[in-house]
Amino acid sequence: TDCPIEYHAIVDSTNSELMRRLQSDLNMASGHVLVAEMQQAGRGRRGRTWQSPFGANLYYSYYWMFDAGMQAAMGLSIAVGLAVYDALKVLYGINVELKWPNDIYLNQQKLAGILVELEGQVEGPCHLVIGIGLNICMPESASKHIDQAWTDLQTHIGSIDKNQLVVQLTHSLSERLVQYKESGLKEMVSQWNRLNAFKGELVTLSTGQRQWCGICEGIDAQGGILLRQDGELKAFYGGEVSLRKV
Ligand code: ATP
Ligand code: BTN
Repeated sequence: TDCPIEYHAIVDSTNSELMRRLQSDLNMASGHVLVAEMQQAGRGRRGRTWQSPFGANLYYSYYWMFDAGMQAAMGLSIAVGLAVYDALKVLYGINVELKWPNDIYLNQQKLAGILVELEGQVEGPCHLVIGIGLNICMPESASKHIDQAWTDLQTHIGSIDKNQLVVQLTHSLSERLVQYKESGLKEMVSQWNRLNAFKGELVTLSTGQRQWCGICEGIDAQGGILLRQDGELKAFYGGEVSLRKV
């Protein structure tokens, strides 16, 4: 594409920066990308912190205007996860695994996270900011603050050309977003299920109110996660849901 890729040294959060940009630049084009070397307030889901030290890691956000409304945007983390898979497969020949709804794993360790933020109407056009944090070379000082198993690309591949990664990721994302716009998750469900990090595993799912336990059977046609409990399938959708291996 011929969209700009904007580079910053330091921002609070690349997602927040693009969200603010929406207010001041009403003509921002779909496909506009913003990358920073460091985030002072990198965000995960539910107000959690994304460790974003200065160095080689990737902090990336992609703007996209979506016509079909917020409801239809629900399955989007699925499409974005596949785009990250595609980019890493094309560049390095690796097969990452996907943890529903928004994490990327390599060797059972968290390599990247996705944070999709929306602004607009429930029906009708809405603005999407797709944030991706991908560890390339994690400095030791920051890794101490990550309270779960994590990894970075350098550990598995060696030295990484970050510009090449940004360009490929942008290309893979554009392709998956067009596919999503044209046919929804139709062709993506079975692809995603092959990459499911928790496939066939016993997991617990917490919704805030309650915990569920079951075998993880993958996603359904809407992108919800399916758990099998006593032979019965139960589906859970989006929002404030967390999955853990038992
Ligand atoms: P879930 O979303 O299913 O609850 P989660 O525990 O991974 O899973 P998220 O909000 O998706 O929660 O991600 C934030 C978490 O990711 C942090 O609490 C921390 O454990 C971990 N984390 C923070 N920074 C990094 C990083 N740079 N690389 C890997 N993991 C990180
Ligand atoms: C998660 O696993 O909870 C998602 C983490 C998403 C982190 C990325 S880094 C670029 C963008 N800007 C942010 O503040 N968050 C996302």
